[in-house]
Amino acid sequence: MADQSDNKMAKIVSLAKRRGFIYPGSDVYGGLAGTWDYGPLGVELKRKIEQLWWQRFVESRDDMYGVDAAILMNQKVWQASGHADTFVDPLCEDTVNHKRYRTDHVLKDAGVKDVEEMTMEQMDQLIEQKGIKSKDGNVLSKSKTFNMMFKTNVGAVESDESISYLRPETAQGIFTNYKNVVDCFYPDLPFGIGQIGKAFRNEISPRDFVFRSREFNQMEIEYFIDPENWEAEFEKWRKDIWQFLLDLGLKKENIHELEVPAADRAHYSKRTIDFEFDYPIGREELMGLAYRTDFDLSNIDRDSGKKMEYIVKGENRRLIPHVIEPSIGLERLLMAILVTAYNEDEIDGNKRTVLRLPEQLAPIRYAVSPLLKNKPELVKKARQVYQILKDKFGNVMWDDSGNIGKRYRKQDEIGTPYCVVIDFDTLEDDTVSIRYRDDASQKRVKIAEL
Ligand code: GAP
Repeated sequence: MADQSDNKMAKIVSLAKRRGFIYPGSDVYGGLAGTWDYGPLGVELKRKIEQLWWQRFVESRDDMYGVDAAILMNQKVWQASGHADTFVDPLCEDTVNHKRYRTDHVLKDAGVKDVEEMTMEQMDQLIEQKGIKSKDGNVLSKSKTFNMMFKTNVGAVESDESISYLRPETAQGIFTNYKNVVDCFYPDLPFGIGQIGKAFRNEISPRDFVFRSREFNQMEIEYFIDPENWEAEFEKWRKDIWQFLLDLGLKKENIHELEVPAADRAHYSKRTIDFEFDYPIGREELMGLAYRTDFDLSNIDRDSGKKMEYIVKGENRRLIPHVIEPSIGLERLLMAILVTAYNEDEIDGNKRTVLRLPEQLAPIRYAVSPLLKNKPELVKKARQVYQILKDKFGNVMWDDSGNIGKRYRKQDEIGTPYCVVIDFDTLEDDTVSIRYRDDASQKRVKIAEL
């Protein structure tokens, strides 16, 4: 089973590169671990997911506002948020060649269960007891903590004051703009602020394709509430998340809720549910839903000297709102969508690979081809059909490479739901042949009906 899964993951990684979805970052120079570049089809898929999220959770709702905050922020943000002190992973070292490993990953790779519930000292003890060695067979050092934020200096002078970080979560750009939004729009409580943007983490061992990267995108919402209602608001978000994931085509049986025990929750959370997904690499966290209390706004209130209070309309009641936070990693969602869509089947005795992407996510909706590319009358008519569809849908591809069979195979692999072929009958009766990706069936339709 594990072999099959590894194999499936390897096939998806290979298809993603071969067909222009995702390339390893800096590939021409030998790569840069934990970074990935999106090719022409990958960027379309990514944008479509982002657009659906934005449409669903920001645009279509009266209680939501959007922001796009700077990635570089004042270092005080990360001191107040606790990231400067506590955003750490346990790290151990090969005592001979000094290669570094994430201690919990070393244990997981050795088949140890429930690693999440162990302290760093317990992990070290277990490594010693079980005689677990590094990948190169050497003794491992005791662990120390490693802060995952990428440090940099802003401006020409390198000093303690000029230190900044590439943000490890987009959430802080929302919290720091909470007061701006309240002062500009006077929203009623509850209301939320959403943001899509890059986040950076210096992961000790980036791995599993885009699952654990050093640079990735988050789609985050901070939903500001009266603390009295936190349980009801949490439940509403739980339902909305399920609906969104199912609407993207993920299968219910592959999504699992994990109630995160207190000892494993982030320092700011009073309740967290991780939504896990059955990836070929195993069941892993896709996204999180956290009750973040008033941790962040209270810290900003204390450290910035600016009041984060909200005055409840009509009641003259003052409170610092509490927060429910649904947070999705875009790449993890994209990977779950690819894994769900990837299929191998047989059509007329021929094996094929097909990405059964939902139509709303497919990078290309229609591929348009002339049956024969050396017949100018077919090419001319096909170009006209192509233009009609292009004007209507945008994501339409002209495809006259190879023979028709090869075109279909290629379009199946990139998830194009419809291939339209212009043949000699088209010249007579203005009908085209449309071929459906999912069952490879074909039918004739009028151009006007496409
Ligand atoms: N603001 C809350 C927060 O950042 P998190 O659980 O650390 O919480 C939220 O991250 C989501 O971001 C995760 O559920 C995951 O989808 C994504 N994520 C986190 N680290 C990642 C990484 N190294 N590569 C890709 N996605 C990541």
